[in-house]
Amino acid sequence: MVDVILGLQWGDEGKGKIVDYFASQYDVIARFQGGPNAGHTLYIGDKKVVLHQIPSGIFHADKINLIGNGVVLDVVTLKKECEAVAAFGCEYKKNLFISERTHLILPTHRALDKASEQSKGNDKIGSTLKGIGPAYMDKTGRNGLRVGDLLRKDFRNEYDKLRSKHQQLLDNFDFQEDISQWESDFFEALEFLKGLNIVNGEYFINEQISQGKRILAEGAQGSMLDVDFGTFPFVTSSNTISAGVCSGLGIAPQKIKEVIGITKAYCTRVGSGPFPTELMDATGAYLRNTGNEFGSTTGRPRRCGWIDLVALRFACMINGITQIVMTKADILDALAELKVCTSYRIDGQETASIPFQMNHLNIEAVYQTFAGWNTSSAQMTSIEDMPVEMKKYIDFINQYLGVSIQYISNGPGRDQLVSA
Ligand code: GDP
Ligand code: IMO
Ligand code: MG
Repeated sequence: MVDVILGLQWGDEGKGKIVDYFASQYDVIARFQGGPNAGHTLYIGDKKVVLHQIPSGIFHADKINLIGNGVVLDVVTLKKECEAVAAFGCEYKKNLFISERTHLILPTHRALDKASEQSKGNDKIGSTLKGIGPAYMDKTGRNGLRVGDLLRKDFRNEYDKLRSKHQQLLDNFDFQEDISQWESDFFEALEFLKGLNIVNGEYFINEQISQGKRILAEGAQGSMLDVDFGTFPFVTSSNTISAGVCSGLGIAPQKIKEVIGITKAYCTRVGSGPFPTELMDATGAYLRNTGNEFGSTTGRPRRCGWIDLVALRFACMINGITQIVMTKADILDALAELKVCTSYRIDGQETASIPFQMNHLNIEAVYQTFAGWNTSSAQMTSIEDMPVEMKKYIDFINQYLGVSIQYISNGPGRDQLVSA
């Protein structure tokens, strides 16, 4: 049996915290897409940890963590992450498994990401510059190297062939940076990778399923960054939605049961692209400062705005969401008034659907206003403590989405979660 936890917005919804919380109920926690562009924050006691590629179940000693074939892997980052979690006593050599079909991010992929962004001038995607796009391009272009290739005798030869193809592209971009340090770090980290558990991921996970083990698939990024259904071209290069679980782990769709979607009580986006409910005013700045909305991977300030129910309902539809977790409700505590976007006005016409190519349209968000709760929700430990205004806010969202918020997160701590 497989459940999924994924983001419903433009990323950073709090997936790391929620996966870490629920991990105790599962046997295997598996990442199915993305790579080191992800930054998933967890608190272990009062210590903050940001995971990029290792699944967020790693702090549970008895759980298996799998990096699936749908991920693109940066081995240098992985090595650092392994060292970081080992400092907390995590036995990654025992608990971490990597699919042999996982594609490698090469130093030249990072260089190409940077060169491609530089060439775009004002049309930059705002990529994390981790090499994600170029690595997935080599996967779909049938050129990439995979973790399992490491064991081939001609690995270095294959690497050199691909590197020279990349060099031609870099020359076309007139990219001059010296990447020799990246390359030596890469080859050193490959040796480290050889010492980890490299498995046939699809047999591995299906064996676990046959044995009745419980699997939790952890999404990275968010549904509005999905390469097919997000705000293209301002998206990431993988399928972040529930369908990605099947191709990113080798799991059949009928094995998937719960699809748990995470949304913030408001909305953020980092990088370029459409964001209809973005607030460029003092309230936006308030959300950023109070919510500490700065990228976990790049440190960039996140753009902030009101919750967008048009985008959320779309995300629930394409994912088949069965329950919702709402995070960062505490960040709205001191606001007298809250807004919820219920439709878009485009050229005078109202719609509650996501249009094709949002970036070519002038979208005005239409709001419904709610009274704030004006009380500290961080102390809330059960539904009985929930302020009546918060209940009204949540009831409205539930009704609009047709799916219920089952948990409310009211602080970054592992146990700051209230069952609604
Ligand atoms: P992810 O990428 O979806 O895992 O999310 P990030 O870790 O990038 O960003 C979420 C941020 O919000 C992190 O700094 C978390 O520690 C923090 N966080 C998560 N849930 C809550 C919450 O309910 N309240 C507050 N105040 N912070 C939260
Ligand atoms: P988590 O898992 C927020 C955004 C980037 C950029 C676009 C493409 O922590 O939620 P990429 O490097 O993937 O080519 O960048 O996607 N992006 C994220 N935004 N959270 C993330 O991950 C993101 N991963 C990528 O900012 O706009
Ligand atoms: Mg993040």
